[in-house]
Amino acid sequence: MQNIETLKKTDMNFSDKIYILDTTLRDGEQTPGVALTVDEKMQIAQKLNNLGVDKIEVGFPASSIGEIESAKKISNLNLDSTLVGLSRSLIKDVDAVLDANLDYVHTFIGTSPLHRDYKLNMSKSEVIENAVETIEYAKDHGLTVEFSAEDATRTEREFLFEIFNNVVDAGADFLDLPDTVGVLTPILTHDLITDIKSHISSPLSVHFHNDFGLATANTLTALECGVNQAHVTVNGLGERTGNCSLEELVMTLKVSYGIDLGLDTTRLYSLSTLVGRLTGVKMPVNKPIVGDNAFAHESGIHVHGILNNSSTYEPISPEMVGHSRRIILGKHTGANAIKSKLKEFHIDLNDSQFNNVFSQIKDLGDNGICVTDDDLVAIAITELGSARETPIILKGLSLSSGASVSPTATVKLEINGVVKETASTGVGTIDAALNAIRELIKDSIDIELEEYNIEAITGGTDALAEVFVIISDSFGNQSVGRSTNQDIVMASILAVLDSINKLLIINNSH
Ligand code: KIV
Ligand code: ZN
Repeated sequence: MQNIETLKKTDMNFSDKIYILDTTLRDGEQTPGVALTVDEKMQIAQKLNNLGVDKIEVGFPASSIGEIESAKKISNLNLDSTLVGLSRSLIKDVDAVLDANLDYVHTFIGTSPLHRDYKLNMSKSEVIENAVETIEYAKDHGLTVEFSAEDATRTEREFLFEIFNNVVDAGADFLDLPDTVGVLTPILTHDLITDIKSHISSPLSVHFHNDFGLATANTLTALECGVNQAHVTVNGLGERTGNCSLEELVMTLKVSYGIDLGLDTTRLYSLSTLVGRLTGVKMPVNKPIVGDNAFAHESGIHVHGILNNSSTYEPISPEMVGHSRRIILGKHTGANAIKSKLKEFHIDLNDSQFNNVFSQIKDLGDNGICVTDDDLVAIAITELGSARETPIILKGLSLSSGASVSPTATVKLEINGVVKETASTGVGTIDAALNAIRELIKDSIDIELEEYNIEAITGGTDALAEVFVIISDSFGNQSVGRSTNQDIVMASILAVLDSINKLLIINNSH
C-alpha cells in the first residue's frame, strides 16, 4: 500500500478503540424485499465473526418467534463477537431479548418532534420516562444497554442532551446517535459530535443512513471527532438506501489513516458476495471495494501502469480484500493488455497476427462491443488458423437412417494429408457422424462436445441452418465452431470440424 502521509491531517481525534457494530442482520434485513432464514442469518453471523467485528446486531427479537429462534441459534454458535438484540423502549421487548439468550440490548425511542408528535404521540417527559424505565429494567436483568435516540439529528439539541443525561443516570452503557433519514453532511456531523462530546462523557456510537450517499463520509467524520463506535452493514444494506457500508469504512480507516481495526479484511469480498447472494441485493459494478469494477481496468494507459506496478491505478491490492483484478478488453485497450491476456491463454502470435487481432478488438470496441476473454481466444485462434493449413478436411459423407435401422454415418476425412474413412452408428445421423469423426481423429485429439446450437436463418424447408458448437479437448482448451448450410447434418459436421481444426491449431502453436 502506498503511503499517503502528505494527505493526512494532524488534528484528528480518533478514539483509541473503535468498535464496529454490524447491523446487517437487523437494519440490513430491513432493506425492502429482504428476508433471511435462520440458517442464512447463522451463515452471515459466522462470517462476520470470522472477519472480527466487535458486535453483531442479530435482529429484533420482539418482532417474531423466528427472530428469537435465530438469535438463540446464533448464540449457540459461541462466537467471539458480542451479540446484540434491538428493543423498542418497552419492557416486553426487553423480555424478548432475554428470551433470545442475548446479553446486550439496543433500546431506542423516537426523540425528534416528528417522532414524538406523529408516531409516538408522547410529550418530551413521557419519551424520557419510557426510555429510562426500559433501561432500568434491562439493567436489573443484567443486560448491557446501548440507547439510541431515534432521529437524533432532527431532535432539538437541548432535548437530546436531556434524554442522554437521563438514560446515562438509568445505567445506559453506550449512547447512539442515529441519523435516521440521512440528513447529515460531514461538516454538520463535525459540529454535532463536537457539541455532544463537550456535554456528555459516555461512550458514543453513530448509526448513519445513506439517503444522500453520505453515510460512510459522515461516519468517518464522527470517528475523526472521537466517537467510539460505528454502526455499519455489509454492502451498505439497510432501510431505503441503506447504512454506512462496513467494507468502505474499514478500508478507508486502514488506507487513508493507517487505523487497523484488527479485522481480517481479506474476508470482505467473500462476505459481500455471500450477503449479496442470500439477500438477492446484488452490488452495482461500481460499488467501492466489492463491486465487479473495483479492480477492473480497460484503458491502455491504466493497464500499462497496472502491469508495471499495480499501485499506479489501484489504492490497495485486490488481495487485501479478497477480490481479484480484471483486465477488460475494449476500445480503450492497449497492446500490453492484449499481450498479457494472450500469454495467460498460452497463445503465441507473430507480430502481423497480433496486429490483426489488436485491430479487430479496437473495431469491436468502436462498435460498442466489449470483448470477453472467450472472444479474444476465438479471434486469436481464427488468426492462427488463417495463417496455417487446415489440418482436417471433409472429403466425403454418406448417411443412412430408417424405421428399422440404426442411423449410420460414413465419414471420409483428410487428416494432415492422409485420407481415412470409417462408419459409425448413433442415436441420430448427427450423433453417428460425430462418432465417426471422433474415431477418425482419435490419434490426433480427444474431444468432447460441450454445446450444440442450431438456428434457421431463413424460412422454409430449404432454410439455411446455422450451427454453433463448443468443443473441448483433454487439455481443457475450448473452441467455438460455426457453419451455415442448407443441410442441417452438413452444417453440424462442418461446425464440429471447424472447432476441431481450431483446437488442433492452438495445440500445435506451443
Ligand atoms: O435508523 C434508525 O434510527 C434505527 C434505530 C432503530 C436505531 O435503525
Ligand atoms: Zn437504521
